[in-house]
Amino acid sequence: MLVLGIETSCDETGVALVADGRLVRSNVLADQQTLHARYGGVVPEVASRAHVDLLHPAVEQACALGGARLSDVDAVAVTIGPGLAGSLLVGVAAAKAYALALDKPLIGVNHLVAHVYANVLDHGALPLPAVVFVVSGGHTSLLAMDEQGAFRGLGQTIDDAAGEAYDKVARVLGLGYPGGPVIDRLARDGDPAAVRFPRALLDDGSDDFSFSGLKTAVLRHVRQAGPDVKVADVAASFQEAVVDVQIAKVVGVAKREGLDTVLLGGGVAANSRLRARLAAEASDLGIRLLVPSPALCTDNGAMVACAGSLALERGEHTPLDVGADPNLQILPGFGRRAPRRPKRRR
Ligand code: KG4
Ligand code: ZN
Repeated sequence: MLVLGIETSCDETGVALVADGRLVRSNVLADQQTLHARYGGVVPEVASRAHVDLLHPAVEQACALGGARLSDVDAVAVTIGPGLAGSLLVGVAAAKAYALALDKPLIGVNHLVAHVYANVLDHGALPLPAVVFVVSGGHTSLLAMDEQGAFRGLGQTIDDAAGEAYDKVARVLGLGYPGGPVIDRLARDGDPAAVRFPRALLDDGSDDFSFSGLKTAVLRHVRQAGPDVKVADVAASFQEAVVDVQIAKVVGVAKREGLDTVLLGGGVAANSRLRARLAAEASDLGIRLLVPSPALCTDNGAMVACAGSLALERGEHTPLDVGADPNLQILPGFGRRAPRRPKRRR
């Protein structure tokens, strides 16, 4: 079974061919980062136009690299949400056209679920039940997956997503976009104990996260330090604060729920400090930790093809009149940003 996976939810045009839900025959990424870098972040209109230009050539390249013709494809899987409306629409419209022209089923895929299933590509069938931690540019969601596709929402960010915090701090430090990879790299030469940044909600007994105060604390520190700011130390100290909270919450949930498997996914799961420290902690506690290889953590077409293949195996198809859903979540009402708490009057 050969599935074509199409991912256009944000600023990466991803197209992949995956055989039997597991074997990546090709995984093409048409990177738009240079287009958006001059604006310091993703510009939605620029992203959707770029998807229009890049998508079909990426499909052709994926076929060439995967040694297959389009007519060999058994199904077309595409991200239908969440993401930027215009970007999603380009992928969904194209996927419908391919499915119709090839007379093969269309499978609409939830981007967040695809981040979790990226683990299948590296590690095989997911051992369940498990704690699931999706950390990306738009989400920081902690869930339990009791069986295939059956999620329970536990905790989420009440303000910024983890990736958003990396990107905003990188901007404050003048490091460009996207911020996560640069901070990760710079932090290796910095001292994670140089600045004691706040660890919000660390011991509040909830499974929720908050990164907005941390971002503000970094901004304040950078302004105070002025030209003498030690960028590598700030990067390392900021990253350490993020990772401390992430590990405490993930491990806390695993212990409380009695789950001995943790599945990570999303762009921030590519973070080397999070991977190393969580792996060490998990090994001490006898927890099995599965994380996709870094290239499969950030947005890509292979994870979409993989999630689509599993849906196809379950006999699921998506009607051709499906629309894109920018606000799609793993569970209805879960994962969206909670309303900000009203400020207390003094
Ligand atoms: O999953 P993803 O590719 O796109 C979304 O679905 O949002 O995640 C992108 C996010 C960005 O905020 C980026 O800065 C962050 O993941 N990211 C990282 C690393 N690589 C990407 N954050 C920390 N460390 C990294 N190595
Ligand atoms: Zn993503």
